[in-house]
Amino acid sequence: MTGTNALSTLAALFAVTTCCSAALAEPTLDDKGRHALETRCARCHAIGPEGKSPRSDAPPFRDIVKRYPPEDLAESLAEGIMSGHPDMPEFVLAPEEIDGVVAYLRSLLAQ
Ligand code: HEC
Repeated sequence: MTGTNALSTLAALFAVTTCCSAALAEPTLDDKGRHALETRCARCHAIGPEGKSPRSDAPPFRDIVKRYPPEDLAESLAEGIMSGHPDMPEFVLAPEEIDGVVAYLRSLLAQ
């Protein structure tokens, strides 16, 4: 029985997210973006609205987004071009991660 309940809950959720507004879908995008940055960048950069970077010479993302528009950053990441990284491995984000990263970086700018 719980299976059926879970299914109908899912169906209801799906209906809500698909029907209404972009505002509802946005946190999901943000989350994906944050996850993409967390797994690849967070060991050196602070990726959140506060806190220090684990590597003191890596600027926190909340400062980086003030210098570079999120769209430009995401584009560089998509192409695997990221300058200013002495000992950083090359990162290429999957196309489906890019929108999330832009959304997440924009949300940092809004703080
Ligand atoms: C191994 C540590 C490390 C990782 C992992 C890392 N970075 Fe960096 N990053 C640095 C350091 C150190 C700097 C500062 C380099 C400098 O100023 O010479 C930097 C600087 C930057 C800058 C500023 C470049 C500039 O021109 O001012 C951007 C943007 C950036 N990182 C993005 C990222 C993104 C996005 C990721 C994840 C995909 C990432 N970094 C992962 C260490 C890292």
